[in-house]
Amino acid sequence: MAGEHVVHSVDRRLGGTKLAGLVTDTAGARPGYRALAAAVRTLLLDGRVPLHTRLPAERELAAALGVSRATVTAAYDLLRDGGYARSRRGASTWTELPEGSRPTSVAAYGVDDGDEDVIDLAVAAPPAPEGALADALAAAAAELPRHAPTAGYHPYGLPRLRAAVADRYTRRGLPTLPEQILITNGAQHAISLTLTLLGRPGDRVVVENPSYPNALDAIVRAGLRAAPVPVTDTGWDTALVESTLRQAAPRVAYLVPDFQNPTGALMEREQRLRVLEAARATGTWLLIDETIADIALDVPAPAPFASLAPHGVAEQVITVGSLSKSHWGGLRIGWVRAGSRLVTELATARITTDMATSVLDQLVALRLLAGIDDVLAERLPRLRASRDALAAALTREVPEWRWRLPTGGLCLWVDLGAPYASALAAAARGHGVRIEGGARFGADPGTHEHRLRIPYVLPPHRCEAAAARLAAALATGLKATPPAHGREWVA
Ligand SMILES: Cc1ncc(COP(=O)(O)O)c(C=O)c1O
Repeated sequence: MAGEHVVHSVDRRLGGTKLAGLVTDTAGARPGYRALAAAVRTLLLDGRVPLHTRLPAERELAAALGVSRATVTAAYDLLRDGGYARSRRGASTWTELPEGSRPTSVAAYGVDDGDEDVIDLAVAAPPAPEGALADALAAAAAELPRHAPTAGYHPYGLPRLRAAVADRYTRRGLPTLPEQILITNGAQHAISLTLTLLGRPGDRVVVENPSYPNALDAIVRAGLRAAPVPVTDTGWDTALVESTLRQAAPRVAYLVPDFQNPTGALMEREQRLRVLEAARATGTWLLIDETIADIALDVPAPAPFASLAPHGVAEQVITVGSLSKSHWGGLRIGWVRAGSRLVTELATARITTDMATSVLDQLVALRLLAGIDDVLAERLPRLRASRDALAAALTREVPEWRWRLPTGGLCLWVDLGAPYASALAAAARGHGVRIEGGARFGADPGTHEHRLRIPYVLPPHRCEAAAARLAAALATGLKATPPAHGREWVA
């Protein structure tokens, strides 16, 4: 049967107590069978319960929830009927996704309903710089024939692009050789490739809470366990980062020190030095995501984190970068900067997944990188204007919301004052706004339901319209809801 081998090859199981905790978060205490089935479906779609996971035995879940076994049996039947579960030889029940379903992580990217009037606030990524992109594309097209007689596979990346990325680090104060650079299909590829290479299932990874959801999902997918440390819009509690590193002895710490997504926080120099020292002491790899570093709106662009690393810890710092925020996410060009031996290991690993990044895309990236200062000189004032327009409109429309104006990055991390972000996000859909509730960014289930991440990547008038629509959605009256997102790890 198609897909059967997938179910057999993954051996993840979810305990009754764990699922019961997630379900009651989602459906309220002691759900009936329909509510139970609906809760499991939600958990599956938003990623808290992974696909192809063995659900607890009916008796076990019934006991954990304090409901009758018949309730669980009926709920599992409903899930099976809807295509959300499958049973094997009458024994175990596994999670499945029916054809046509759209998990939250994928749905976040899809304004494919063709409705141009929908304001998309679900993704904090700016549109492409059209003129620069057209010029780079024309130059790349002219150059492509020189590459056509070769096989065109460059697992490490096109040598000239590696050299250009290395050169930019060197100019920013971090001497870098081309062999320290691996070109990837965006920063996300770089993150998941690195996590998979460095981590073994069960290893701990320190993460910020909240953080970039796709990186959190990559940690779950690699079978790693997140050890969250809080970060707020005022920044990091460095003592807590240090003690978590000491106590969890994590294999990796994934940090976004520059205009952190979603809080916009910028890590201070002194804090960076302390994190480096703590990582040296525990032998932890630092996976530093600098995807947003170029979007410095009110402060000078931060120097690369690794430029502060003293000898002896420098080789533990792995830096990830990307053209997605300076230019365009649709390019899918990112990179890793690391020691050359690690770069070789990453290149070897990436061959088994994607072989190499497209030569044409890399030629485009080469041109764009050459003109990055000009693109940023145009982009940053626009983002500043959009940020300020959004902040002013929100102050006008929803004076009870609070936020701290970030000095860089692409979004406001708004405190709603009460946990109703999921209900607001759902209501906003009816007012032509796509947005994620704050819990989507939570590294711990149950956190950030009182927060909303509002990107300001659209022109000022669209940001103002977005604020008005959110206020209209709010005016419809919302009930505070339990968290609708978060992540759960199953062994
Ligand atoms: C912190 C962070 N890391 C990585 C990414 C993914 O970047 P890319 O498009 O290069 O894969 C994003 C995009 O939103 C991000 O905010």
